[in-house]
Amino acid sequence: MHPGAHRDPNGCCPRAGPGRRAHRAKKRPVCFLPDVDGHIGIYGTGGSGKSVALRTLAIAAGRTSAGGPVAVYGLDFAAGSPRMLEPLPHVGSIGGGDDIERIIRLFRLLKAELEARGNRFAEATASTIAEYRALANRPNELRILLLIDGFAAFREDWEVASGRSNWYDVFRSILADGRQLGIHVTFAADLASPRMALVVENLADFLQAPADAALVELIKHVMRSNHFLVADGETASWNSSWPLFAEMKNSRRGLLLQPDTIEGDILLKTPLPRLDRAEFPPGRGMMVAGGKVLRVQLPLVE
Ligand SMILES: Nc1ncnc2c1ncn2[C@@H]1O[C@H](COP(=O)(O)OP(=O)(O)OP(=O)(O)O)[C@@H](O)[C@H]1O
Ligand SMILES: [Mg+2]
Repeated sequence: MHPGAHRDPNGCCPRAGPGRRAHRAKKRPVCFLPDVDGHIGIYGTGGSGKSVALRTLAIAAGRTSAGGPVAVYGLDFAAGSPRMLEPLPHVGSIGGGDDIERIIRLFRLLKAELEARGNRFAEATASTIAEYRALANRPNELRILLLIDGFAAFREDWEVASGRSNWYDVFRSILADGRQLGIHVTFAADLASPRMALVVENLADFLQAPADAALVELIKHVMRSNHFLVADGETASWNSSWPLFAEMKNSRRGLLLQPDTIEGDILLKTPLPRLDRAEFPPGRGMMVAGGKVLRVQLPLVE
C-alpha cells in the first residue's frame, strides 16, 4: 500500500490554472506550500475544474524538489477519476467512495503515521517534515498528501455514521496536526451557485437596440452555465438570423405555440411531425428539446 518515494523530484508548485470559465476569474498562478499552508481546499461550481486541479496537484507533488519525496493517497467521492493516478510511482491507494474497506485501511495507515510521526518528530524537535528530514538525517521521509474529491459526500458518509466516525476523527486529527507532521489534505468541494432565471419578453424589441450586444453576451454566458433563460416573441420574428436570435435558437430548445410543421426545422433545427393546424387551439404547442418533440397544452392562468 505504501507507494515508492520519488528519488529525484523537481518543482513543488503546481500552477492551478483557471478552468474553461477563465473569463470569469482572473488568471493567477497559485502555489501550495504544504509546510506553510498545511492543507488546501479547492472550491468551484460543477464542471469548473476541481477534479483536474486535484489531479494536477497530485502529479506535481511527484515532480517536486522543493517539497521532497511525497506519497499520494486519495478518496474519490465525486467520480473525479483520481484513480487514473494509481499507476504513478508516488501514488498509493485511491479508494472509491463506496470502497469502505479500502477507506478504512487508508485511515488505519494514516492514524499509525500520525502517531509514529508525533513521537519521532517530537524527539527530533522538528516542527515540519523539512526540519525532521534535516535534524533526524532522514531525507527520504515521505510527505503524505491525502486527496479527497467530493468533500461534502465524504463528510456526509463518514462524519457521524456509527463505525465510521472514529475514522473521520483521524481525518480531523490530520487537519489539526498534519502540517507539522508532513501529512496534508487537499480536497475539492462544490460551491453551490444559486440558479438564476432570466425572462426576456418580446426578444425582437431588443434587436439593434442599445442592449442588443450585451444581451447576446448574456445569452452565451447563460448557455455555458446552469442558469435558466427564457425569451418569447412572435414566431415570425424568430426567423431572424441576427445573433440575438441565432444564439437563442442554437439551444434547439423551445416551445412553439400553434406552429406550422416547417417551423420546427426553421426555428429549432428539429423536424416536427406533420401537424394539422385544426388540432392546435390557443395554448397548444410543440415542446422541442434535445432533438425530441412533444405535443403540450399550456394551462391558462386565470
Ligand atoms: N485548467 C483547465 N484548463 C482547461 N480545461 C480544463 C481545466 N481544468 C479543467 N478543464 C476541463 O474542464 C472540464 C471539467 O473539469 P473537472 O472535471 O475537473 O471539473 P469539476 O469541477 O471536477 O466538475 P464536477 O463538478 O462535475 O466534478 C473537463 O473537461 C476538463 O478537461
Ligand atoms: Mg469533479
